Amino acid sequence: MKDDNFLRENNARHLWHPMGHPGALQENPPTIFTGAEGVYLHDLDGHSVIDAVGGLWCVNLGYSNEALKQTIATRVHQLPYCSNFGGSTNDAAIEASFAVREFFAEDGMARVFFTSGGSDAVDTALRLARQYHRLRGEPGRTKFLSLKKGYHGTHWGGASVNGNNRFRINYEPLLPGCFHLPAPYTYRNPFDESDPERLADRIVAAMADEIAFQGANTIAAFIMEPILGAGGVLVPHESLMPRLRDLCADHGILFIADEVICGFGRTGAWTGSRRFGVKPDMMTVAKGITSAYFPVGGCLVSDQIADVFETSNADGAIFTGYTYSAHPVGAAAVVTCLAETLRLDTKSNAGPRGTQLYEGALRLQEKYDFIGDVRGGVGLMCGIELVSDRAAKTPMDMDTMTRVHKAAYEAGTNTRLGMNNILMSPPLVISEAEVAQIIDNLDTAFATV
Ligand SMILES: Cc1ncc(COP(=O)(O)O)c(C=O)c1O
Repeated sequence: MKDDNFLRENNARHLWHPMGHPGALQENPPTIFTGAEGVYLHDLDGHSVIDAVGGLWCVNLGYSNEALKQTIATRVHQLPYCSNFGGSTNDAAIEASFAVREFFAEDGMARVFFTSGGSDAVDTALRLARQYHRLRGEPGRTKFLSLKKGYHGTHWGGASVNGNNRFRINYEPLLPGCFHLPAPYTYRNPFDESDPERLADRIVAAMADEIAFQGANTIAAFIMEPILGAGGVLVPHESLMPRLRDLCADHGILFIADEVICGFGRTGAWTGSRRFGVKPDMMTVAKGITSAYFPVGGCLVSDQIADVFETSNADGAIFTGYTYSAHPVGAAAVVTCLAETLRLDTKSNAGPRGTQLYEGALRLQEKYDFIGDVRGGVGLMCGIELVSDRAAKTPMDMDTMTRVHKAAYEAGTNTRLGMNNILMSPPLVISEAEVAQIIDNLDTAFATV
């Protein structure tokens, strides 16, 4: 291992980081983490901070799950790789597919197609949706609907249904035939509607209007996150997801639940879909499926979709996939992670700890008038939106956001900035005392503004 000076001198020199400006990162190099324990991250300068981001909404089991570490170490010795294209598979892949099916049985999911992460999973879902309609004799169903503010990864397909323009404009033109509906964002929306239920009515009406305008028989699928994560932790009214699901069913449009963040307990239920009482046609998963200890994602399909593919002619062959699909080490990690997730019953901790975090953030809003909006309260995810003028809702400038982020870090908590939002999704195993520390550290940081 190279010494600390080497690491500092070469930080961001040869590595282009995702979601960052390469020149700016050379000027202000990123924090170098060298270790982790429980819900704490340790950096090269000797700081230990609570990771209130849970990696990137993904380290659900925290950083010290021994069973998962052991599984990965053992498997990498036993079978470090095996192709799953066509004629071969591995024991762990079979076991993982069984475990995933059991985990998602209540959501009506019947098959899993493993990928290397969430973007791959979304891309696979969009492809399979088109193929499904072709197999059923409706090749004209090629379009996709999604929500503004939704995040569905960065592949061409995912970026095309993405609802945040900063992930889109540098890479346009994107996939044709993708259309976006208003977001369930009560703080800012084109209807000036702050009531969540009435806003849900508006979105449902907008979807019905868009379907009529496009023609239902041209639309392959609609994709949404049960709670919109990267877009700022937007929690829709409980009526929204079921009503959009019904609308899709009425028009033969496949409903894809993007559970990359919401799956595996984050919302206080095992899936966001279950939380809102919805059975989708497809689900996309990643992150919590291995607690991010190994890169794995998956696209899940219902019995009905499985049946169409499995009883079709040769056109039902799936000509998409990844070298690392059903990777033996990743698959073994899935099996252990799901077992650990169930054993620790992480969803039952996510509920009360999420309420604690949300209520703590609401108390801070009473104290600091630059907190414009606080979102969360459904599971362990929270968004705090800062404004420079509460009445005008002027988004806080990025210099101040960066200062707040740094002050929170120095006080002992790692958070994530999404424009003028502070985003939090701590490990689902976090304790009451650790959540209390996050709130204290944010208080310290806000006092510096
Ligand atoms: C809801 C959602 N879908 C898809 C993705 C993309 O996943 P990945 O970054 O693993 O490609 C993410 C990533 O944050 C996500 O939050």
